[in-house]
Amino acid sequence: MMNDLIEKRVEELLGRLSLKEKIGQVTQIYYVSKDHDQTAQMVRDIQPGSVILCDSAFAGNEYQKPLDREKLDELQRIALHETDSGIPVLFGRDVIHGHRVVLPIPLTMASSFNPELVQECYDAVREEAVYDGVKWTFAPMLDMSHDPRWGRIIESPGEDPYMGEWMAKAVVNGFQTDDLSNEQAIAACAKHFVGYGASEGGRDYNHTEIGDYLLKNSYLPAFRSAVEAGVATVMSSFNDVNGIPVSGSRYLLTDVLRGEMGFEGFVVSDWYAIHQMMQYQGFAADDKHAAQLSLNAGIDMDMADNCYLNHLEELVQEGTVTMDELDEAVRRILRVKVRMGLLEHPLSTQIPYDEQAHCVLAKQLAQESMVLLKNKNNVLPLSKTATVGMAGPYLYETVELVGSWALDTDASLICSPAEAMRRTAPEAQFVENPGNLADEITMLRDADAIVLFLGESRRVTGEAHSLASVELPESQLAIVRQAHRTGKPVVGVLCFGRPIALGEADELFDAIVYAGHGGTCAGPAIASVLFGDAEPSGRLAFTLPYSTGQIPLYYNAYPGSRQINGYYRDEFIYHRNYQDCTGAPAYPFGYGLSYTTFTYTDAAVDVSQRSLQQLKDGEGFTVTCKVTNTGTRQGSTVVQLYVRDVLASRLRPLRSLRGFQKVDLQAGESKTVSLTLGYKDLGFYLENGDYTVEAGDFTLYVGDNCLTENEINIAVNEAR
Ligand code: GLC
Repeated sequence: MMNDLIEKRVEELLGRLSLKEKIGQVTQIYYVSKDHDQTAQMVRDIQPGSVILCDSAFAGNEYQKPLDREKLDELQRIALHETDSGIPVLFGRDVIHGHRVVLPIPLTMASSFNPELVQECYDAVREEAVYDGVKWTFAPMLDMSHDPRWGRIIESPGEDPYMGEWMAKAVVNGFQTDDLSNEQAIAACAKHFVGYGASEGGRDYNHTEIGDYLLKNSYLPAFRSAVEAGVATVMSSFNDVNGIPVSGSRYLLTDVLRGEMGFEGFVVSDWYAIHQMMQYQGFAADDKHAAQLSLNAGIDMDMADNCYLNHLEELVQEGTVTMDELDEAVRRILRVKVRMGLLEHPLSTQIPYDEQAHCVLAKQLAQESMVLLKNKNNVLPLSKTATVGMAGPYLYETVELVGSWALDTDASLICSPAEAMRRTAPEAQFVENPGNLADEITMLRDADAIVLFLGESRRVTGEAHSLASVELPESQLAIVRQAHRTGKPVVGVLCFGRPIALGEADELFDAIVYAGHGGTCAGPAIASVLFGDAEPSGRLAFTLPYSTGQIPLYYNAYPGSRQINGYYRDEFIYHRNYQDCTGAPAYPFGYGLSYTTFTYTDAAVDVSQRSLQQLKDGEGFTVTCKVTNTGTRQGSTVVQLYVRDVLASRLRPLRSLRGFQKVDLQAGESKTVSLTLGYKDLGFYLENGDYTVEAGDFTLYVGDNCLTENEINIAVNEAR
């Protein structure tokens, strides 16, 4: 539908709404799953713009009643035929990284470095969710974070803005398809705008201090990408930025999000975020004041706390909020509903989907998200006729491996790592230590190798689930020590959602696979990788610190005023980062091994310099690198391209990821990978939101992780 047709339809709908009905549209109620009739009556009385399909604020870790699309259609018929406005309700749900078939958590899947596969997987997720009546999802979560103590880092694309850019695009396109009016499309929601990942101390909901330079160059890029991809909605975050709650910040929600970034959809508050400005933040005198501040800031829809429902009528009647301001919020919501074609097809659609095909995709993504950190003496892959010792608290786990924010998991589809290992290698001998107790490990001493399935519960990840220590739990470390003492090769399968600090535990393992929280097919994917049916082609989307005390520790740090960046070289006698700990990570961003080996040679660039004008005209640099599989079996690797602006009017990160390509090569095969750099890759945003590229020298690094020493020097000059 052309824009002017959309606008005409919106104005026509808006024009016939009463004040009460307008206030209904800017209100999102929650579905009281234990009392459908109560929700039905609320739809009649309030005529809400949306119903969120969860009745708890900690949906990420609490059981939610399965969706019943007949009941949702019943509510929709009430909205259509038993209310004066007759405007359909938008049903929203936290479909974050899966529905019935669940993908790895976002932080795990980011390590796949495979945008095409991620988008294909979200297309499958969309099919399942829309089948159940979901038309709006509160994803992608795009909060860049440097702090593994923060439980919600598992929902994020990790520490790097560029990773957030590609994840944003893949997820928005997966849900919204290439046509939002498609009745199978689901409106996406870029959240949590903005800076939530900087919560002080990794303590959820905490204060954040983010200067505009950092905001616009680190925290905004993923949201810019979501806006460029046409994301229909944005959710405001709980936190304050520099003393002003985001949900009351006109600067952030209007000047930046709409003025600088060009967002045209509607903004929904996070759960009770408006009310919390009064309840906890001391920023609003009461709910009425909070409603006024939020509407003025640019929040169009109020999630669950009814501040708009209870106070907007009075605010408008007394003139504190103008009818135009309210109309603009309603207009944005109606515009999304019209763009979605919700008025043409308001009821759920029952287009069947292929669940098994979805499981195949989920397993593929889980396999590609696993990162092989260590493989001494090539203990992996295991032989399918070996005697394999198995132990650890996650050996028999199922639902825990799915991760947080998996409300509609079909548990019947999940099999434990133990079951998957047996299915994958029926000829192998397995010696299991069901007790997972350290002193029973010795029973595994006759095995060819001991595989320890370690990890964390999804209940210490996600919302309101931060940790003060990200070290390996002591009980699990005891198991590792005991296994090490047997003298047998010890393989660690780390099923942790967040990055953890391995510390000395690292040396106790002969092999380590970072499996993350791998979703429905985590077990089969782990078994396939361990026995070599699949190869671990993931590369770390995050830094693994050596110790919690190093946090925040991330690769794209700014240079210090002395040689102190231990991330890259921790050998400075006088300027060591710490006297009691290394400044280097246990494993750096972008790192990962394969079952084969690769070389990265002949790194080159097509031209060594460009003018600013040439860059603005679309001419850039093409970087090439020859990758050779020098091993004896097929394998994949991720060629990564990092940029450093050597001299600029602002400090620039020591390295910034600006391109990558995953390549799959047969043994002995070579391929020359080409990666381009353009105007958008070589500059940065000033505090006022203006983007600039400054002439001067740049150093490029191309290789297999952020520490690669393959350097190329280029220059950008002023000459025309
Ligand atoms: C939660 C989360 C948010 C989620 C919303 C609805 O508190 O912060 O990510 O989408 O409420 O469940």
